[in-house]
Amino acid sequence: MIQADLIVEGAAELLTVAGNASGPRRGTEMRDLGILRRGSLAARRGKIVWIGPTGDLLTAIRPLAFCKVIDAYGKTVMPGLVDPHTHLVFAGSRENEFALRIQGKTYQEIAAGGGGINATVAATRAASKADLTSSARRTLDTMLALGTTTVEAKSGYGLDLVNEIKMLEVIRALEETGPMTLVPTFMGAHEVPPEFRQNPEAYVDLVITRMIPMVASRKLARFCDVFCETDVFSVAQTERILQAAQAVGLELRVHADELTDLGGAALAARMKARTADHLLFANDDGVRAMAEAGVIAVLLPGTAYFLHMQRYARARDMIEAGVAVALATDFNPGSCMTESLPLIMNLACTQMRMLPAEAITAATINAAWALGEQDCVGSLEVGKQADVLVLDAPTHEHLCYHFGVNLVDTVIKNGKVVAEAGQRLN
Ligand code: NIG
Ligand code: FE
Repeated sequence: MIQADLIVEGAAELLTVAGNASGPRRGTEMRDLGILRRGSLAARRGKIVWIGPTGDLLTAIRPLAFCKVIDAYGKTVMPGLVDPHTHLVFAGSRENEFALRIQGKTYQEIAAGGGGINATVAATRAASKADLTSSARRTLDTMLALGTTTVEAKSGYGLDLVNEIKMLEVIRALEETGPMTLVPTFMGAHEVPPEFRQNPEAYVDLVITRMIPMVASRKLARFCDVFCETDVFSVAQTERILQAAQAVGLELRVHADELTDLGGAALAARMKARTADHLLFANDDGVRAMAEAGVIAVLLPGTAYFLHMQRYARARDMIEAGVAVALATDFNPGSCMTESLPLIMNLACTQMRMLPAEAITAATINAAWALGEQDCVGSLEVGKQADVLVLDAPTHEHLCYHFGVNLVDTVIKNGKVVAEAGQRLN
């Protein structure tokens, strides 16, 4: 018999999202959640040790004396959500810009007028590590209570050596104190800082010659990301930065074709980036190239919504073209101020016509692939981390369908209950 210190018993639906070990899910595979009806799960020391029909639980599992048993009768059990694109760490807020957009100003006009990313850069440079850490920890607690158990976090509000390193150190400290799994990304090329406005090439040189080598030698990031956009970093500049990052062993992601069709998707394919993100304006050639190169599309419909874009990435065309799609919040103070992946999944369904099952795949196993974490998280399989959600819902569709509330009843991270009834437990 298998010994367990945690049992989740009696799910109406248990979404394993298992299978396809060779790559992220594409095409119609994205609709397959590997559902086990009347299923149960057992874990020990933070890892899943058994999944099977509830009828077999008593004969298969021997609960240890201190075993925690969670009642999931009538409920849905699924893998913890994975958020593969966030700007977790920053100081201040930009609610003034929210009001300006309502009055008709665009994101680019606000940035040109002294708001935008550089407003948050000023606040973040002035903030202490302790303040950044405590504010990001509050965000992570909110994310956990909403069902997210793994998060990518970018630098990019420092934009000088000292402050970019400061941000990555904050991310590392948050990862060390847990319980959230954090995947760090260096994004020194998030914007041109004001002191380099007249000479952006010199800033690109600084990123390449000073920041990337320091980040790599101190192993402060797994990925490098660049905001490839009109009036931010050109395709040529982006390519230079990504080449330098690749040369020192960082994996690549790109903010691509978010506001204009600049060719970011094609560049991501050419550079074999792991992901290209946003892609509202990506053209057909770019999408085809991504499918061929196996670049994962990380779609961020919350940003399109929050910026009144009146358009969304063409998720249906991407899925049909064979691109693996993932979903993320893009959590940041300017273009998407939400911690909620379930809200993003609702938008993915209503605005991009993804099916609830596709949205769940996109926010679990495909998001795990988008971070290179597919062997540890993103599905419920024996040997993986016991990152498990119990939803107060009889079927998985409710997670996308019933919006604006928190359906996540219990959040289990590495085999421990970390949130219950929408409250983070400490
Ligand atoms: O992903 N596009 C660039 N970066 C963020 C926005 C960050 C900000 O406005 O502070 C994004 O949308
Ligand atoms: Fe972003």
